[in-house]
Amino acid sequence: MASIEMRNIVKKYGDGFPAVNDVSMDIADGEFMILVGPSGCGKSTLLRMIVGLEDITSGDMVIGGDRVNDKAPRERNLSMVFQNYALYPHLSVFENIAFPLRLAKAPEDEVKRKVTEASNVLELGEHLDRRPANLSGGQRQRVAMGRAIVRDADAFLFDEPLSNLDAKLRGQMRTEISRLQRRLGITTVYVTHDQTEAMTLGDRVCVLRKGVIQQVASPRELYEQPVNLFVAGFIGSPPMNFLPATVSGTTLATPFGPIELDASRADKVTGKDLVLVGVRPEYFEDASLVDETKKHVGTTFTAQVDVTEWLGDSQFAYIPYEAPAAVDAQLKELSRELDSDQLRTQAIVSIDSTSRIREGREAEFWLDARKIHVFDPESGDNLTRDAEAGAELTRMAAEDRTDQVAQARGEAS
Ligand SMILES: Nc1ncnc2c1ncn2[C@@H]1O[C@H](COP(=O)(O)OP(=O)(O)OP(=O)(O)O)[C@@H](O)[C@H]1O
Ligand SMILES: [Mg+2]
Repeated sequence: MASIEMRNIVKKYGDGFPAVNDVSMDIADGEFMILVGPSGCGKSTLLRMIVGLEDITSGDMVIGGDRVNDKAPRERNLSMVFQNYALYPHLSVFENIAFPLRLAKAPEDEVKRKVTEASNVLELGEHLDRRPANLSGGQRQRVAMGRAIVRDADAFLFDEPLSNLDAKLRGQMRTEISRLQRRLGITTVYVTHDQTEAMTLGDRVCVLRKGVIQQVASPRELYEQPVNLFVAGFIGSPPMNFLPATVSGTTLATPFGPIELDASRADKVTGKDLVLVGVRPEYFEDASLVDETKKHVGTTFTAQVDVTEWLGDSQFAYIPYEAPAAVDAQLKELSRELDSDQLRTQAIVSIDSTSRIREGREAEFWLDARKIHVFDPESGDNLTRDAEAGAELTRMAAEDRTDQVAQARGEAS
């Protein structure tokens, strides 16, 4: 098992385009790191440079304390699980798992011991004589992981391993991979463009945009204290709403009426004229369901509801609004970049499932002003980010992880 350190990693393909641009990050021994971002942002390229399948243009790749830039993939002792698991159809599950040991000409008793151990962890014991074709997608995935486990690899690397499974199986496999990784305590780097996978699997998540790291943090820090519009818009589903607003003193004038800022936030937006106010869907509520004693910490407004979607445990309401042309163009650009199909000039709000708000009518909503973030529309920076509160969230996640890894290794030995 090993840590992975990246120092100023750059990858330029033939045409000089920087697919990965000055990436530095430390992945701790036993940590589960996610690389996430829209298509083409450089996730696979970065992963392939860790394994050694792609040359590094400049920078240092350090694994377990050794610089590996010039080492061949097989000298790096890493295990990569691809999207298509590449199992051998004519071999049994046992022999598929044993494959790397056979290649290394390991003695029969060692092969038997290691395959048995791995198949126990993976709950594949009763399938060892079967062929891959007769297994479910999830079982096949586990066979591929078994092969990685018997190699005693220093780290697991996954490139979108679940992307060709159906939604239900994907959910199951997500839980399974998470459980296994905890149990084995093996350093893992996992590429996905699915933000749900990113949020549920990772100890930390690295958000990439056009080859550049935007933020590396625990899922909660990304969600609650995003550094910029891009991260704020990428993490969360449905995504954060961005309302155009003009600043006057401590008041933001938005399409949904004035929002009053507390002193510290007001300080941070002083001197700005036009801003974007980030409001997550769940910061809204049907005003008639909000306790009177709580109403003063937020803003109550009336709006025309376009569509409602009742989901059982909650419901969404879609509220269109007008945005100035400049902001509108910017929001469209952001949507395009995030591969999002959401129209940015309508707010998606999540309200209680018992709400009687219905589409096609006017309704009164409330939004919690304590939780909003204010963004600079030009740079995209989050002006009201509380870096300290964010760092604390990630520190807490790291503590949990260290405990879990210690516990898992204690149980394993
Ligand atoms: N062999 C190559 N030659 C030239 N350019 C490449 C090559 N492979 C990738 N690129 C470019 O590098 C950038 C990053 O590609 P990469 O495959 O790492 O993206 P990704 O984040 O994995 O995307 P996806 O989610 O679509 O898999 C893209 O702009 C891509 O066009
Ligand atoms: Mg890729």
